[in-house]
Amino acid sequence: MLKIGSIGAGGRGRLCKLAHRPEQGFELAAICDTNPQVLADYRREFGERLRVTSSYRDLLEGGELDIVFVTTPDYLHEEHAVAALSRGKAVYLEKPMAISIAGCDRILATAARHQAKVYVGHNMRFFPVIQKMKQWIEEGRIGQVQAIWCRHFIDYGGDAYFKDWHSEQRHTTGLLLQKGAHDIDVIHYLAGAYTVRTVGMGKLSVYNQVQDRRRPEEPGNASFVRAHWPPLAQTQLSPVIDVEDHSMMLMQLANGVQASYCQCHYAPDGMRNYTIIGTQGRLENSGDASSGSQWATVHLWNRRCAGACRQGTLMEAIPPIEGSHGGADPLIIDGFLDYVRGGAQAGATAIDARMSVAAGYQATVSLRQGSVPLEVPPLPTQGWG
Ligand SMILES: NC(=O)c1ccc[n+]([C@@H]2O[C@H](COP(=O)([O-])OP(=O)(O)OC[C@H]3O[C@@H](n4cnc5c(N)ncnc54)[C@H](O)[C@@H]3O)[C@@H](O)[C@H]2O)c1
Repeated sequence: MLKIGSIGAGGRGRLCKLAHRPEQGFELAAICDTNPQVLADYRREFGERLRVTSSYRDLLEGGELDIVFVTTPDYLHEEHAVAALSRGKAVYLEKPMAISIAGCDRILATAARHQAKVYVGHNMRFFPVIQKMKQWIEEGRIGQVQAIWCRHFIDYGGDAYFKDWHSEQRHTTGLLLQKGAHDIDVIHYLAGAYTVRTVGMGKLSVYNQVQDRRRPEEPGNASFVRAHWPPLAQTQLSPVIDVEDHSMMLMQLANGVQASYCQCHYAPDGMRNYTIIGTQGRLENSGDASSGSQWATVHLWNRRCAGACRQGTLMEAIPPIEGSHGGADPLIIDGFLDYVRGGAQAGATAIDARMSVAAGYQATVSLRQGSVPLEVPPLPTQGWG
């Protein structure tokens, strides 16, 4: 039986429960969280045999663990992943890998030095719409990919990112990296290359106008409440907000593909809308089926048609599949557990994850320095692997 521990077991950390599969030889054995309520809830669910602690060092000192989930807030990923990897644990690390390029490189170096596996939670790679677009690209249906554009509308932005730790640069670097890490990785995946140069633009345009703030001593409280509308009527926002609430980045990829990613945290609707343009056509998704019972569609235009031709020359409906994030979460846990057991790595590699952070980080620096274009540092040639 492989024993699993979790650092940051509340919130997104509940993902570790999907890996608790005693019948397959994986058992959740210990959790760490600084919120006593989270510890009590797990105790109630898993009973006395589950070790619970508020210290990640205690969790790791126990020595019985083979696998550790690191699902704490972004600014803690580097510390927690390095601690687990340096004890030789296989680590499932939530995205973004870290909040800096140096942080990612330290994680990679530690994993290499201790020959420990690190797998980053880029669950969007498992979205059925992304898989469908990748399949059609690989089948040559749009010829050679030249340009990719992604527009990202976030309907729960004010609720989830401007009421807790996400709202501060010191915790995320910025939301272009924090949230965009998913999409930058998907763009790299669909294009088949990493970003080498980027330029960013963005600003804090709406939530800085909201006067209703929680007191600094009150805990952050992310929520998802549809009635919180319009954005300027939001209440109990973080006392410190210094991240952008809309941002854009342009990317030049190593294989010549050019891409853009635009993110807005005060949209009324929630969706990622990708279009991929090649030498013989264009693809686009409508809806991303990332939650609940939503269907999505993927459209292909590969011959000229009169006017807008909204449905495309081919349209495929993508049904929702069971499980959180449109079924992507159970799939990524399947992939991770298989990888731990020696299977091939499905989904993003740790290097893919580093490169998405690197592009998002540089774009954020660019936007804060007057939109100067910046090179994306390649992987260091020494110090790991
Ligand atoms: N892949 C995805 O789709 C996805 C979705 C949501 C969040 N995330 C990522 O998951 C991570 C967690 O996000 P979240 O929204 O659940 O955050 P959160 O603020 O809810 O924190 C997660 C848990 O970590 C605990 N925690 C905080 N500090 C800790 C510490 N020092 N030691 C131990 N536990 C600690 C919190 O009490 C909480 O239970 C982030 O990196 C986020 O970017 C990924």
